[in-house]
Amino acid sequence: MSDEAGIKQSEGEVYFPSQSVIDNAHCKDYDSMYKRSIEDPEKFWGDIAEEFEWSQKWDKVYDESTPPFFKWFTGGKTNIVTNAIDRHLKTFRKNKLALIWESESGDDVRTYSYFSLNREVIKFANVLKSMGVQKGDIVTIYMPRVPELMFAMLACAKIGAAHSVVYGGFSVEALAERIEDAQSKVLITADGGYMRGKIVNLKQIADEALARQGTIEHCVVVRRTGHEIYMEPGRDYWYHDLLSVPVVNQPCETEQVDAETMLFILYTSGTTGRPKGVIHTHGGYMVYTATTFKYVFDINDEDRYWCAADPGWITGHSYIVYAPLLNGSTSFMYEGAPNFPYPNRWWKMIEKYGITILYTAPTAIRGLMRFGNAWPNRHDLSSLRILGSVGEPINPEAWKWYYEVIGKSNCPVMDTWWQTETGGFMITPLPVTPLKPGSATRPFFGIDVDVLDLDGKSAPTGEEGILVIKKPWPAIMRGILHDPERYKQQYWSKYTTMYEAGDSARKDKDGYIWVIGRLDDVIKVSGYRLGTAEIESALVSHSAVAEAAAIGLPHDVKGHVIHCYVVLRAGYAASDSLVEELKKHVGHEIGPIAKPEKVNFMDSLPKTRSGKIMRRLLKARALGLPEGDKSTLEE
Ligand code: WTA
Repeated sequence: MSDEAGIKQSEGEVYFPSQSVIDNAHCKDYDSMYKRSIEDPEKFWGDIAEEFEWSQKWDKVYDESTPPFFKWFTGGKTNIVTNAIDRHLKTFRKNKLALIWESESGDDVRTYSYFSLNREVIKFANVLKSMGVQKGDIVTIYMPRVPELMFAMLACAKIGAAHSVVYGGFSVEALAERIEDAQSKVLITADGGYMRGKIVNLKQIADEALARQGTIEHCVVVRRTGHEIYMEPGRDYWYHDLLSVPVVNQPCETEQVDAETMLFILYTSGTTGRPKGVIHTHGGYMVYTATTFKYVFDINDEDRYWCAADPGWITGHSYIVYAPLLNGSTSFMYEGAPNFPYPNRWWKMIEKYGITILYTAPTAIRGLMRFGNAWPNRHDLSSLRILGSVGEPINPEAWKWYYEVIGKSNCPVMDTWWQTETGGFMITPLPVTPLKPGSATRPFFGIDVDVLDLDGKSAPTGEEGILVIKKPWPAIMRGILHDPERYKQQYWSKYTTMYEAGDSARKDKDGYIWVIGRLDDVIKVSGYRLGTAEIESALVSHSAVAEAAAIGLPHDVKGHVIHCYVVLRAGYAASDSLVEELKKHVGHEIGPIAKPEKVNFMDSLPKTRSGKIMRRLLKARALGLPEGDKSTLEE
């Protein structure tokens, strides 16, 4: 079914939790709690939701009257910020640290208690209000990894507006099309950010993007680097200048909204066309992400938790911003690259801050593993208690290195499988789960998963099939912005009553799930999700390119890299300099992560008789694998 040869999956080894892990566990008996969650989801999630603050209780926990548009906690009123910040201010957590942030240079460390976080969010919220942002508006945020990114997101939520965060590593066209689709009137950005000691010129990219769209009226600019930038009069405002406006320092109530009010959209890549704006809402997303975080990381008040993802992706939304704050936790955030200036950068910070939980991606683990054990061994990593992994399947070699060299064989590895669309962890161990390296193990509470064959029947044990979720859960996406049809088509057309994730997987004899990889044209490069269609459309926007195809090929560190096949327009000749120019062009349009590793020129692309590019064939050829069924190939 899929042609991922990269990952060797060995089922034999099992790692059991230590007694101290079991003693500390919020849930010691997964099986019975899971059973309860599946047998009576309304009671299960209703009881959990009671632990949050609602200004009005829900009428219904779960509303399935218009599938696949499921709703949760309908009739209920709250705000995720009421639960992520406000309620902590009434407890000892008021003075607890919410966030510790370190700059890439290491010269700058900032800390925020829940009290000061609240103050920062209020200032931002007042700025947004003074610009006319209202309930229901979508504010686009394009920022480096700095605390203001978090404040801006929370400020939108606080006033009942939605945010659309565009990852700071994206570039001109990616930003422009997301702004346009969301019809944002306000953009929040920064003059720049630091990456590997260099300034990334975010404002300049934003200026180019703004020239390509027509909706932004105001642009708020946070000063991070202090280098010279262009500020358009009447459109661009420095954030620090706005802070001197008296209304900005006034109190600001947290707006109470319906549970189903849109909290954010986050664009993600799918099989075809433009990235889609995945919708999440205040109520269900809050209850689900907070609960997954609590049980999977066994979080408690003494923890110092570090999710090394970027807030601009779903991992950051759910597990840097919302779930940790909902649990009243202390998070650490680091601005820069993992191996800058040396490969011990992460290990040094774990020691310095006493990090207890580290959550990262296989690509980062493999990248740091390359530098050998001496770098982590120079540091005291004994504060670590639990490790986490996300974004792609983790190969057992990387898993074991993470477990043995970083976790000193004391820290269980939580391999969490989930998606932008799912909002939170779906298949994941709990710390007490016996672990098999390379398997995300068992479904989380309330998640009914299966692996199906092509006829829609459960696939036999050990056989690869299509991963589906059979029941909706509180944080399931509420649709695609402006495009309900596409939502139905993409996730609910094959099996109608089951959510199709787009991944292939197999189930072993113990019921453990082994996720294999994407079944569609999504490429995971260093854990970042990109679609072939976006890369292809960036290529054909170059004057030399008539047609283009992009595929993902396995790579030792990045998981996958992008290879492109290009047919040139008449009058253009293939050359090394054109290859470089095309790579640069894709980087400029989408972002450095989308830069192809290789660009090959062809006279024509293999297509089906109906004109679809046969990427599968290109991939098989590149990997030297059998070409499979070619009956639809156009001669
Ligand atoms: C892949 C990231 C195997 C998968 C949270 C999924 C994984 C896609 C894992 C979603 C994992 C994520 N094991 N594969 N632990 N976690 N994936 O939307 O293919 O950026 O469909 O969300 O990443 O990517 P997204």
